[in-house]
Amino acid sequence: MEAVATENRRQTFLYGDVVYLRPLEKDDAKRSVSIRNTPYPLSPERTEAWLTDDGPGDHAIVRTADDTVVGSIAFEKRGYLRSDVTAWVAPAYGEAGLTWKAEALVLASDWICNEQETPSMRVAIPAAEQCVIDRLVGTGFVVTNRQREKKLVDGQWVDEIGLQRFNPGWLETLGDPMAIELPRTGTGIARPTPARPRAVTDPPKNAWMIGERVYLRPFLLPDIDESVLWNRRETDTFHMLGRQLPFGSKFAAEVRDDEAKEQLEYVFFSVCLRETDEFIGEVGLMVVDLVHRNAETASWFHRPDYRAQGYGSEAKQMLLEYAFDTLGLHMLESTVRFENTRSAAALRKQGYRESGRICWTSHRDGAFVNTVTFDLLAGEWRALASDTERPRP
Ligand SMILES: CC(C)(COP(=O)(O)OP(=O)(O)OC[C@H]1O[C@@H](n2cnc3c(N)ncnc32)[C@H](O)[C@@H]1OP(=O)(O)O)[C@@H](O)C(=O)NCCC(=O)NCCS
Repeated sequence: MEAVATENRRQTFLYGDVVYLRPLEKDDAKRSVSIRNTPYPLSPERTEAWLTDDGPGDHAIVRTADDTVVGSIAFEKRGYLRSDVTAWVAPAYGEAGLTWKAEALVLASDWICNEQETPSMRVAIPAAEQCVIDRLVGTGFVVTNRQREKKLVDGQWVDEIGLQRFNPGWLETLGDPMAIELPRTGTGIARPTPARPRAVTDPPKNAWMIGERVYLRPFLLPDIDESVLWNRRETDTFHMLGRQLPFGSKFAAEVRDDEAKEQLEYVFFSVCLRETDEFIGEVGLMVVDLVHRNAETASWFHRPDYRAQGYGSEAKQMLLEYAFDTLGLHMLESTVRFENTRSAAALRKQGYRESGRICWTSHRDGAFVNTVTFDLLAGEWRALASDTERPRP
């Protein structure tokens, strides 16, 4: 097909040399593999239903030369501060596809950061796609973090590179967030908690894993009431944007919905004291990806009097064992606000390594907040755990 003459184009922006971007249309379902960013193939029929019913709001990457839809690009707006963008091109296009992907991301970033004045746009690209990374860096993106071995590409573990492009006006007003020094507390020495007992006579009801002082079990409804209550009594306001007033019913519905899913994306445990069975916190996995075998870890001890006494690290060791040894995950990551130095110190103590930062994620005190990122590989955790003579099955 002949390329559409410039003056006759329906859309007059988001055009590059080799591709242009436009909203997805129902007819694009015929090229299902080009537009569905999934690790498995989906039929045009399923994709048509997705386009019709859910209205995903994604955009098509179209080859300028012949108007063929070769990929798709999704913009996830995080408040007014940030747009997280993911681009996909049908795998069969190989190297050429990477050139189109790079151009699509550059077009999107010119629009998002400059025209829409969004403070920043973020992308995460497997290190195997070096030509995409080079093109983005050449356009003004900065590498902000490197999550080791987060992606499985052609049978190899590959790092994922996080890049951000900043709006020049905001950069001038607020200064370069990459230059801000990260405050650190704690010893910074990785040291796992003592091995957990392998067999316990008469374990607490519903206990999944039992440690020296705490055990993990599924969420119970009364835990949710307790958690909501302590949220209202919060004394530390630095680890989130001020205090919260959550609804127990909404929290309970989320837990119920998560449990109903065939493949869990969120796996959370309540943490209870062995001595009294008191529920004191929660640890869990978010965004579990069983294809690339990674997840994000999260911890929350709702009662301030149980923080900074090692309970969080003891519970986390059991979560790590569950993630690596039961689910077979390969890599875990975590992000922490700069000011939450205690949480970052706890992660270092648990064996995580600093891997960079994600900038301008939220706001506080008239400035934008930055987060530090961490990662931990299964092999590293196993090596550390064996130092404490943790009995291996
Ligand atoms: C984050 C959390 C789960 C960590 O668990 P924990 O039981 O408190 O952690 P630990 O006691 O095992 O380790 C705390 C580390 O922080 C350091 N620390 C203790 N109090 C601190 C404080 N007030 N400020 C800064 N660092 C502190 C400790 O020295 C220790 O490091 P070190 O042993 O290497 O010196 C827990 O503090 C918590 O629930 N906080 C509130 C919610 C939260 O911030 N969640 C994480 C969001 S990213």
